[in-house]
Amino acid sequence: IIHPLLLCGGSGTRLWPLSRKSYPKQFAQLTGEDSLFQASAERLSGPGFAAPLVITGSDFRFIVIEQLAAKSTAASATLIEPEGRNTAPAILAAALVLEAREAGALMLVAPSDHVIPDSTRFRDAVQAAAETAASGQLVTFGIKPDRAETGYGWLELSQSPEADFAPVAQPLKSFVEKPDAAKAETLLAGGQHLWNAGIFLFATDALIAAFEAHAPEMLAQARAAVDAAEEDLSFTRLDPEAWSQMEDISIDYAVMEKADNLSVVPYGGAWSDLGGWDAVWMESGPDDNGVVLSGPATSIECENTLLRAEDSSQQLVGIGLEDVIAVAMPDAVLVAHKDRAQDVKKAVSALKEKG
Ligand code: GDD
Ligand code: MG
Repeated sequence: IIHPLLLCGGSGTRLWPLSRKSYPKQFAQLTGEDSLFQASAERLSGPGFAAPLVITGSDFRFIVIEQLAAKSTAASATLIEPEGRNTAPAILAAALVLEAREAGALMLVAPSDHVIPDSTRFRDAVQAAAETAASGQLVTFGIKPDRAETGYGWLELSQSPEADFAPVAQPLKSFVEKPDAAKAETLLAGGQHLWNAGIFLFATDALIAAFEAHAPEMLAQARAAVDAAEEDLSFTRLDPEAWSQMEDISIDYAVMEKADNLSVVPYGGAWSDLGGWDAVWMESGPDDNGVVLSGPATSIECENTLLRAEDSSQQLVGIGLEDVIAVAMPDAVLVAHKDRAQDVKKAVSALKEKG
C-alpha cells in the first residue's frame, strides 16, 4: 500500500491575484470544479492507496480539512510547518512521522499544483514503481520534454524509454535541477533526458538514509522537530525552535542531485505544472479563437486571450485583444501580455515593497 504525501504549503505567487498568501493557488478553483489540491487527493485514492498525509502551513489547516471533507475523505496525519522551509524539510519530516508508524512504508510525494487529467494511467504508473521503490530506490517520474524549460528538473536516462512510454522503471544516470537556458537547450537536443515531474516514490527508510548521507544536519533537526511536535486537535505541529534551524532548500537540490540510488518511471500521459496564467489558459481549453472566458466575462473579437472575472457582480469585457491575460478580482486586477505570465511574481514583490 502506498501513502500519498500531499505537499500544499507553497504560495503560488505567479497566479496572483487569484492566488494569495492567505488562499494560494492549490486551494482555488482554477480549471475545474475541484481545487488542484482536491484533484491530487482524489487522483491518489482508491485500491492500493492509504489515506494521505498532508503537510502545510498553519494558515491553511482548516482549508485542508474542509476541502478533503467535501470529497468525503480525511488525512491520516496533517503536519503543520511553523514556517515554509521548502520541500526538503517538509518531505523529511513527513517521512519520519510515517516511518515511526510503519517501518519502510512506501510514500508518494505529490505536489498539489499539477494537472494530470488521466488519473487511471497515472495511478498505474505509480503502482508500476512500487517494487523498485520497495527495493530501496528513490523513484522519480519522467515526462517527455517539449521545450528547453529552465523551471524544471531534468532526468538523465540510461536507456531510451519504450516508444509508448510504458511505465517501466530504469536506473537514472543523473539528476539536474533547474539548468540555465544554455544547458537546457543542450539537454533537450541530446534527447537523453526527461523532465522531472516533481513526484517521488520511495520507502521511508531509504529516504531517511539518503538524508543521512547527503544532509545529516537536516536529518538531526527534522528528528528534533518531529520528536518535540505538539498535537493540536487533529494537527501535528512541528516544533518551531528545531524547524527554524533548518536550511530552506528543495528536495531536488538537497538529495536528488546527490543520490546514486535513483530510478525513473516514464509517464506518457498529459502533465502540467500550473505554474502561471499561460498554463491555466492552455489547460482551460481555449476556443477556436484561443479565447478562455471565466465568470461574467465577454470577448468581442479577441484572440489567444484569457478573460477571468472572479466576482459575479463584475462584468469583464475585452475588445480586439490579442495575447492578453486579464484577471479581475474584487480588490485587484491583473492585465498582462500572455508572454509575460511568468513575471507576475514580480508584481507580487513590487506590491509587497509598496506595503
Ligand atoms: N508543505 C510545503 N512546504 N509545501 C511546499 C513548500 C513548503 O515549504 N514549498 C513548496 N511546496 C510545495 C508546492 O506547493 C508545490 O506543490 C510543490 O511543493 C513543489 O514546489 P514548487 O516550488 O512548485 O517546485 P518547482 O515547481 O519549482 O520544482 C519542482 O517541481 C518541478 C515540476 O513541477 C522540482 O521537483 C522540479 O525538479 C520539477 O521539475
Ligand atoms: Mg511547481
